[in-house]
Amino acid sequence: MAGRGGSSPLELLAQIPLFRGCSKDELKHVDRAVTQADYTAGQVLCSEGAVGRELIMIIDGEAEVQRGGTVVTTVGPGDFIGEMSLLDGGPRSATVTATTDVKALVLPTREFWQVLDEVPALAHRLLRTLAERLRAMDERAF
Ligand code: CMP
Repeated sequence: MAGRGGSSPLELLAQIPLFRGCSKDELKHVDRAVTQADYTAGQVLCSEGAVGRELIMIIDGEAEVQRGGTVVTTVGPGDFIGEMSLLDGGPRSATVTATTDVKALVLPTREFWQVLDEVPALAHRLLRTLAERLRAMDERAF
């Protein structure tokens, strides 16, 4: 993992529920693929309608998810964002803005697919979250 300061890579990854239960070898695969990114409060992590190029996993801090200008939820430590565009190649479904300083791990598209191939358990967790988000969107639509 590049650009990291302080905590060990595996410690940071172990804080993310997406990776819970992964073996050390699996975590090493992921570690090779992620970089650390820091966002300041007010900074946009992804913009509705834009092309998605990475999955962002929040280690520290909070961010607001807005669709069509309405806040639909907040995300925080352990949550990930950006999976939808990576999965279907479509535009970002929401704008996510840091409401505090945010420390995150970033997985670019190509590495995202590699990691999903190497660590199938991740695909299961990701699909579960995707289904939960789909239900939440559906409920708001009616
Ligand atoms: P993506 O569409 O790539 O970019 C915006 C991201 O916001 C999206 O992926 C999800 O990760 C996230 N997102 C969209 N809607 C919700 C929601 N209802 N709850 C949590 N996160 C969401």
